[in-house]
Amino acid sequence: MEMNIALLPGDGIGPEVIAQAVKVVKAIGQKFGHQISFKEGLVGASAIDATGDPYPDATHEICAASDAVLFGAIGDPKYDNDPKAKVRPEQGLLRMRQKLGLFANVRPTFTFPSLVHKSPLKLDRVEGVDFVFFRELTGGIYFGEPRGRNEQGTKAFDTNVYSKEEIVRLARMGFEAAQKRRKLLTCVDKANVMATSRLWRETVQELAAEYPDVKVEYEFVDAVAMRLIQWPKAYDVLITENLFGDILTDEASVISGSMGLMPSASLGSDVKLFEPIHGSYPQAAGKDIANPLATVLSAAMMFEYAFDLKEEANLISDIVNLSLTEGIVTEDIAEGGKAYKTSEVGDWLASKILG
Ligand code: IPM
Ligand code: MN
Repeated sequence: MEMNIALLPGDGIGPEVIAQAVKVVKAIGQKFGHQISFKEGLVGASAIDATGDPYPDATHEICAASDAVLFGAIGDPKYDNDPKAKVRPEQGLLRMRQKLGLFANVRPTFTFPSLVHKSPLKLDRVEGVDFVFFRELTGGIYFGEPRGRNEQGTKAFDTNVYSKEEIVRLARMGFEAAQKRRKLLTCVDKANVMATSRLWRETVQELAAEYPDVKVEYEFVDAVAMRLIQWPKAYDVLITENLFGDILTDEASVISGSMGLMPSASLGSDVKLFEPIHGSYPQAAGKDIANPLATVLSAAMMFEYAFDLKEEANLISDIVNLSLTEGIVTEDIAEGGKAYKTSEVGDWLASKILG
């Protein structure tokens, strides 16, 4: 198969972890006979430094012309404590999602037996956890108008808006995913307070009739925040709006003890995007110590979701599991054993794929 992949390494450790994913993707291409070409674009703080724009048109053109985007991370501490900064790296990410039509963010949480003891939760609660969030990504309070301040600057407002159409397209993805999994869908909302949430609930209730094999539960977002810690095994597929999903998926990302390993996909149009859940980790940038496995597993998701190549995806996951059991890992999970460099882990994974 021919594949055109856009690479957006971004900021911090982004370039280092993307480089390892590229080694793995090239090895897969060689092994399975795929023609894979890469084009690199600027995004985030590094794009602001170079062009003044966190998502330059040139980058958008590269992404729009590709089959899939592999994204590293964005963010730089110099912007975090400056609420008055005119351009921010995050604006690039939001514009990219919107312009590429990536309305669904798929964030799985699953466990690795060799890492599960690192979970902040008790073992019996976390062993075997396996759920996935479908977070709406291009609507809600992130994009709603009006937003801003009054003339005196003493009041600020954001607007949460959802159309039925936006809810339906996201919810359908959740229903379809549930059908292929344990057939349980949880709609997360705040329907006891918010009008937008009531539209979500009503819309999902209507759709449920089309998926009689899926059991649907409706839960308030505050209760889900609690139950995710208390009994995360209760969940299979969860669907929710943009802001709730932002918050809950960060909570979800740490419960398995493997945050450095969690991948994600953003779907919704012909171009699909894949990125690790962790951020730009600026303290580690350039040191060759960052864990590349979440990005490598994002590349596995790419083969599955963008190219429907399950065998390639499974091989990557298997090799990542092997690196964990054989201890070919970076310092964050080395636990007293030898800590390998980011680049060494990438080399090892690629050679195992070919070997
Ligand atoms: C995420 C991030 C972004 C978001 C930020 C960087 C704009 O936190 O991908 O979850 O809030 O969506
Ligand atoms: Mn977030």
